[in-house]
Amino acid sequence: MVKHILAIDDVEEDFSKILKWAIEFKRLWKEGDEVAMNFLPLDTLAIGSIYEKPSTRTRVSFEVGINRLGGYPLTLLKNDIQLGKSETVGDTSQVLSRFLGAMTYRCYAHADVEELAKHADVPVINALSDKHHPCQAAADLMTIMEHFDDVSKLKVAWVGDGNNVLHDLMLACAMLGIDIHYAIPEGYEPSEEVVKRTKSLAAKNRSKVVVTNDPVEAVSGAHVVYTDVFISMGEEHMKDKIKSFDGFQVNEKLVSNMDENWKFMHCLPAHRGDEVTDWVMDHDHSIVFDQAENRMWAQMSLLAYLVSEGAWEAMFEFMGLD
Ligand code: CP
Ligand code: NVA
Repeated sequence: MVKHILAIDDVEEDFSKILKWAIEFKRLWKEGDEVAMNFLPLDTLAIGSIYEKPSTRTRVSFEVGINRLGGYPLTLLKNDIQLGKSETVGDTSQVLSRFLGAMTYRCYAHADVEELAKHADVPVINALSDKHHPCQAAADLMTIMEHFDDVSKLKVAWVGDGNNVLHDLMLACAMLGIDIHYAIPEGYEPSEEVVKRTKSLAAKNRSKVVVTNDPVEAVSGAHVVYTDVFISMGEEHMKDKIKSFDGFQVNEKLVSNMDENWKFMHCLPAHRGDEVTDWVMDHDHSIVFDQAENRMWAQMSLLAYLVSEGAWEAMFEFMGLD
């Protein structure tokens, strides 16, 4: 059966292995290790990426990562293809399945990436929908694992909107047994359905999921604070929304409540001066550009895992991981 990644808990079983693979493969590749550099599981395959919304990180990290795995990236911008004009998502999916080794899709409605996957004969990866951003969460947890030795003891805090990035971050933290505390203004809470999934994973992995309206309470003693824009793509008409986020900015005063080895995370792009100050963004404790780089390594692991699991497993063993 073809595997898809529409939300990060779709890879619950192998999540930790996928991240360890990405961390070690990145290290070997940067050392110039010949086995890693000649690992080409996507050889001769074209991987197509459909974008309904703009992107810097997702697009470039997929294009470069696919190339490094021996594949051929095809970026399909919405204005240039028939999707949404004269062709349905389902028909597009069946046509593209005849050419491609896998598809990624950045869309507005999460139902659209579900529809693409439903009709696809090849793996589909959600490259951000209004509900989920699994590739971001994979890179984020990879980054956390690189910066902290024992992730099971961590407290991660989210301050801001209850959005797509939070959804996959909370699922991912719960899958690794990391406590997640999120502070959200009233009316902007995450999806109840995703919170329910998160709580069930957290119960299994003995971690906490704590909600509050108070940013100070959320970040108290935390090791990581994460925020995102208050107005996401597709919400540009909701300019007044920003007024509800008074007091939810990540700034010097807020992080003074954290563990002394605090780290700041953001999926980017950041709106400096809104959800985060320059002081925090540019601080030594900010790891936002590590997160951005790790989009590529984490996605390389996800792609190899989905498209060529045997080769991915063989590389896992070669790297001496368990
Ligand atoms: N974080 C992220 O998905 O960035 P892009 O919108 O630039 O792809
Ligand atoms: N929540 C943001 C994330 C951008 C990477 C959005 O959906 O626009």
